[in-house]
Amino acid sequence: MTNLREILEFYRDAGVDAALADTPFDRLSEETAPAPTKASADRPKLGVRPDSAPKRTMPISKPAGMTVPDEGQVALARELASGAQSLDELREHLSAFDGCNLKFTAKNLVFAEGNPEGPLMVIGEAPGRDEDIEGLPFVGRSGQLLDRILAAIGMDRASVYVANVIPWRPPGNRTPTPQETEICRPFIERQIELASPKVVMTLGGPATKVLLKSPEGIMRQRGHWKTYSCPGGAEIAAMPTLHPAYLLRNPAHKRLAWRDFLEVKVRLDNPD
Ligand code: URA
Repeated sequence: MTNLREILEFYRDAGVDAALADTPFDRLSEETAPAPTKASADRPKLGVRPDSAPKRTMPISKPAGMTVPDEGQVALARELASGAQSLDELREHLSAFDGCNLKFTAKNLVFAEGNPEGPLMVIGEAPGRDEDIEGLPFVGRSGQLLDRILAAIGMDRASVYVANVIPWRPPGNRTPTPQETEICRPFIERQIELASPKVVMTLGGPATKVLLKSPEGIMRQRGHWKTYSCPGGAEIAAMPTLHPAYLLRNPAHKRLAWRDFLEVKVRLDNPD
């Protein structure tokens, strides 16, 4: 006879580990939220907690069935991100921003870890379960592999700045929707601009596609120098490579990632 623990373990292994609400909610009878009007999309406070409101402590829950419409949030995200004059301010703006539904199922904001003044910034797709629990990027199995790869080129989180395109864990590790990605994009773009590293490495296809705006697959792009263009016009050398989670599943391809990291190391060690 299957006990409760085994059922819970099955759910966890199947990726069902995000409790959305304490009470059941009939989503089939859920009414579609009306599209926001131009006026509501322009409203400056839309999707952001007023300054006077008490700061939320995690985990965040929201009323069952409530969704924030995506329209208008990209513009607000852009305004908030471009207004941040430091990484601390950007983090504050991001944690006050209520315009992305992923925030409401995540336990923690996963902003960054490492040295924002380091010469290398490494960017993944989105936090997973371990990162969500700890509020730090790349702390699970892929993070451990990333740390081993960094160590192999003589670097660690004291010299590297680590972040993700999406700062909240998508429930059950599902792929972020294009809308969620567009809402989060201004924040990671500003984060890169403010950190201003010498080299950016994008890990895996999704992060590479979003940041380097190239439709080609990661196998074609990896190992080739690209240019990341900041919204303000600055340009940063970028190297796409394979994602550590992919390398865990395909260990034979570790040698390809190894080459890419070595290439980056050579560039970092040489003055422009
Ligand atoms: N995968 C990612 O892309 N980012 C993390 O932080 C962890 C796993």
